[in-house]
Amino acid sequence: MPKRGEVMDLKRTLKKKKELIDEYLKLVLPYSEGPPKLQEATWYAMLNGGKRLRGIIMMAIAEMKDQPLEIILNPVAGIEMIHTSTLLLDDLPSMDDALLRRGKPALHKVYGEAITILVAESLLLEGLSLIIEEVINGISSREERSRIIGNLFSSIGKDGVMLGQFLDLYKSNQELKLKEIEEIHAKKTGSLFEVCVDIASSLAGFIPQEKKEIMNFATYFGKAFQISDDLIAVENKPALSGKLSLTKDRRPNYVQLCGKKKTLKNLNDYVQKAISSLKVLPNSEFLIELTKYLKTRNS
Ligand code: IPE
Ligand code: IPE
Ligand code: MG
Ligand code: MG
Repeated sequence: MPKRGEVMDLKRTLKKKKELIDEYLKLVLPYSEGPPKLQEATWYAMLNGGKRLRGIIMMAIAEMKDQPLEIILNPVAGIEMIHTSTLLLDDLPSMDDALLRRGKPALHKVYGEAITILVAESLLLEGLSLIIEEVINGISSREERSRIIGNLFSSIGKDGVMLGQFLDLYKSNQELKLKEIEEIHAKKTGSLFEVCVDIASSLAGFIPQEKKEIMNFATYFGKAFQISDDLIAVENKPALSGKLSLTKDRRPNYVQLCGKKKTLKNLNDYVQKAISSLKVLPNSEFLIELTKYLKTRNS
C-alpha cells in the first residue's frame, strides 16, 4: 500500500499536470471563434473535469527522456479530445444512457443528442489532426511515421475502441468467459492507453528495447484501469465517481463475472506486471506511483 504522504504527493502532482493540460486545451479546442452554442458545448464537454490520465502518461514519458514539454503538448491535447469524444458517444441514450459524466449532467442531457454527436465528431477529428501534425514534424523516419499514424486510426476504429464498444453493447446481458471480458476491456479501453504510449515513446526517442517495455506497461495499465473502472461502477457512488448510467447493470462487468475477491487479485496482478515493466526503465518513479493508484482510486 502506498503511504499517506505519497498519495497526497501524487494527488498534488496530478492536479498540477491536469491544470496545465486544461490551460493548453483552452488554446487549441475547436470552435474558439464560435458559433457560441457549439463553443459552449465543446467547452462543457472538455473542461468540466476529467482526470487527463492519458495526457499525463504521455507527458511523463517525455519527461523520462528529458524532452521539452513542447514536443508532447499537441498530442496530449489531441488524445484527451479523442478520449472525450468516445465518452460523449458512450453516454448517449442509445449506448450507456448516462445521466452524469465527470460530476455534471452528461452533454446530451444539457445540449441534446444532435449537438453531442457533432461535438464528438469534431473533437475526434481535431484530436487526430493535432497528433498527426506533431508526428509528421517530430519523427524523422518515414516508416515509423506511417506505422504510428496507421496504428492511431485502427486503434481508435476497427481494431480498437469502436470494436470494443460494439462488443460491449453486443455482449450485454450475456454470460461471458473471463477471456471475452478481457478482450472487450483490451479493445474499448486498453487500445487508447497503448496508442498514447506508442506516440509519446516514439516522439521521446525510446530505443526498441525500451519501447517494448513501455508498451507492456501500457497493456497492463489498460487492463488494470478498466478493472478498477468496473469496481467503481459496481460500488455505484455517483457522488464520488461523477458517473451514473442507466444501463450499467446490463453491460459486461468484471466484478459481476469474477466476484470481488478475484477481481481485486487480478487488479493487483496487472498493477504488479505494469510496474515490473516500468522498473527496468530509467526515471519511471512517477508512472510507478500512478500505476499503484489504480488500486485505490474511486473516481
Ligand atoms: C473513463 O475514463 C472511461 C474508461 C475508459 C473507463 P477516465 O476515468 O479516464 O475518464 P475521465 O477522462 O477522467 O473523465
Ligand atoms: C468506457 O467504457 C470505454 C469508452 C468510452 C471507450 P464504460 O462505459 O465502461 O466507461 P464509463 O464507466 O462509462 O466511463
Ligand atoms: Mg460503455
Ligand atoms: Mg459508460
